[in-house]
Amino acid sequence: MNYKSLAAQALAARKHSYSPYSHFRVGAAVLTKSGEVFTGCNIENSSYSLTMCAERTALFKAVSEGHTKFRAIAIASDQNGFTPPCGACRQVLIDLAGNVDVILTKKNGETKVVNMKGLLPHAFTKKNLDRLR
Ligand code: THU
Repeated sequence: MNYKSLAAQALAARKHSYSPYSHFRVGAAVLTKSGEVFTGCNIENSSYSLTMCAERTALFKAVSEGHTKFRAIAIASDQNGFTPPCGACRQVLIDLAGNVDVILTKKNGETKVVNMKGLLPHAFTKKNLDRLR
């Protein structure tokens, strides 16, 4: 699985977006170290704050099926520019997936690869809790 095809899966996943409030469709595709892909989209709610982002949908699907080792996540929307993950998703991603590559994907398929340490430096993680023990 190369990053271009992971990006294509994120673009496809955005078509399942449930976003009647923002009309902002987002798709994500998580690649596990074993080579499996889990996709997700944003799922909004009439009680707006209960909205789930595409990145967390994809990652939670993978974790809920027993996956713990990840290589990358691709993120796409309908924007002509790149769509970076929100702060909440950055925290969840660094916690559950670690310093994975993040494949930012434009609507036209153009990609830019960054990583989680770059997106969330000095992150609070499990290691910070371990120091108390
Ligand atoms: N959204 C995502 O799914 N991922 C992001 O990284 C940014 C924001 C969603 C949440 C909401 O449904 C819509 O995009 C507008 O914020």
